[in-house]
Amino acid sequence: MLKQTKILTKRYDLDESWTLQTYEKTGGYKQARRAMRMTREDIVAEMKAANLRGRGGAGFPMGVKWSFMPPKGDKPHYLAINADEGEPGTFKDRTIMEKDPHSVVEGCIIGCRGIGANAAYIYVRDELHLSKARLWDAIHEARKKGYLGAKPFGVDYPVDVFVHTGAGAYICGEETSLLNSLEGRRGEPRLKPPFPAQYGAFGMPTTVNNLESIAAAVPILEMGGDNFSQLSDLHHMRDGGSRLFGVSGHVNNPGTWECAVGLTLRELIYDLGGGVKGGELLGVIPGGSSTPILRPDEKVHAPNEDDPMHKWHGQSVLDVPMGVDTLRNCGTMLGTCCATVLSDQACPVLAMHNLMRFYRHESCGQCTPCREGSGWIERILDRIVAGEAEIEELDRLHEIAGNIMGNTICAFGEGTAMPALGFLKKFRKEFEDFVRTKGKSSTGRLTIAASSDHRAA
Ligand SMILES: Cc1cc2nc3c(=O)[nH]c(=O)nc-3n(C[C@H](O)[C@H](O)[C@H](O)COP(=O)(O)O)c2cc1C
Repeated sequence: MLKQTKILTKRYDLDESWTLQTYEKTGGYKQARRAMRMTREDIVAEMKAANLRGRGGAGFPMGVKWSFMPPKGDKPHYLAINADEGEPGTFKDRTIMEKDPHSVVEGCIIGCRGIGANAAYIYVRDELHLSKARLWDAIHEARKKGYLGAKPFGVDYPVDVFVHTGAGAYICGEETSLLNSLEGRRGEPRLKPPFPAQYGAFGMPTTVNNLESIAAAVPILEMGGDNFSQLSDLHHMRDGGSRLFGVSGHVNNPGTWECAVGLTLRELIYDLGGGVKGGELLGVIPGGSSTPILRPDEKVHAPNEDDPMHKWHGQSVLDVPMGVDTLRNCGTMLGTCCATVLSDQACPVLAMHNLMRFYRHESCGQCTPCREGSGWIERILDRIVAGEAEIEELDRLHEIAGNIMGNTICAFGEGTAMPALGFLKKFRKEFEDFVRTKGKSSTGRLTIAASSDHRAA
């Protein structure tokens, strides 16, 4: 059953939905006003009850993350909002910034109060001009009304929000690179620990949240955390609420929709996405290019009754509710919840080549396995595509990808290796045929773009 909801997106279709006037007419800023009079503990308790799994890709529970922030001492605390949205195939956060920027500002006020911060920085990638303009306009409107500043809503607890512009590097979406970039340093990931809650922006305790996560803080307070959580079909797996789902690639109707957590990939591709364009389904990358591809003929294997996936035993992975843990149990990840569809008129070899060009280009170069490994993967794929490779080189690709896994400072390494291994394992026959026939077996009539804004050099 399709579970479309209009909670985060309730203003999307209203006239001038981005203005303070429309925002307040539809209940805006009531929760920030309330939050300013709530204790930190009470705010965090609502976030925990909401079971909101971070919408940026890793799926960490937001309330738990907020509870890691130390009690307020002499050090300032910061909130950093991740709106870098550089993951190929992902285009959801920009819809919130463009259509409902005040919900982000209100979420930041609630977030600052909840973690003991007085300032929030929204890190937006440079290409998103309209997003930046709308956010700044919203901030200025909120400041003028006194919702931001020295005494928001008359309470003696200063809060301000700033937009910080990135410079178009995918790695700056990784939370510690983002913090370095925010400080004016080179956007390279930091070693963890210390985690941002101990040593974040400017060396101070910091919470980094995805933009959709922070915007959801408003309806969480409005509905109550538990009610928000129960919107989800996976509430029992502590994966709560509604969220933005996206689909693009070879579908008839690409876009984003808000649905309760638990929509299936089949519903996303066929009901919302209008079905596969130009052929049958070859595979689907569920949540941004770092998540391993799924084939439609893959079935859930969970014969043991105690297995949380037992309910879906024997069913196609397309019919599993999309959740952080359910998709992990299918051997992939929910990631950013924005799927990329490949029709069988696309060639998996060329698709992987395209993605790996992106990862080689975006590796920050700090860790040798990632810097060199992504280059070697690209060069072998160049040889395969040019019809110059031997079959053994497919095993070398496996080996190189395997050696990146777990050997880098940040998850970019896994984000490169996991999709590479996914393509190689699931389309071994197509890769072998391609190498043997020097590409004549290729069905590469359709291609997928790694990202419209990140063309590999
Ligand atoms: C290479 C890389 C790129 C990332 N890009 C983004 C991004 O654009 N937006 C985002 O919210 N999270 C991104 N993340 C995840 C962040 O590191 C972090 O987990 C997230 O911002 C935390 O917010 P959340 O808990 O609300 O999801 C990226 C991670 C990696 C490894």
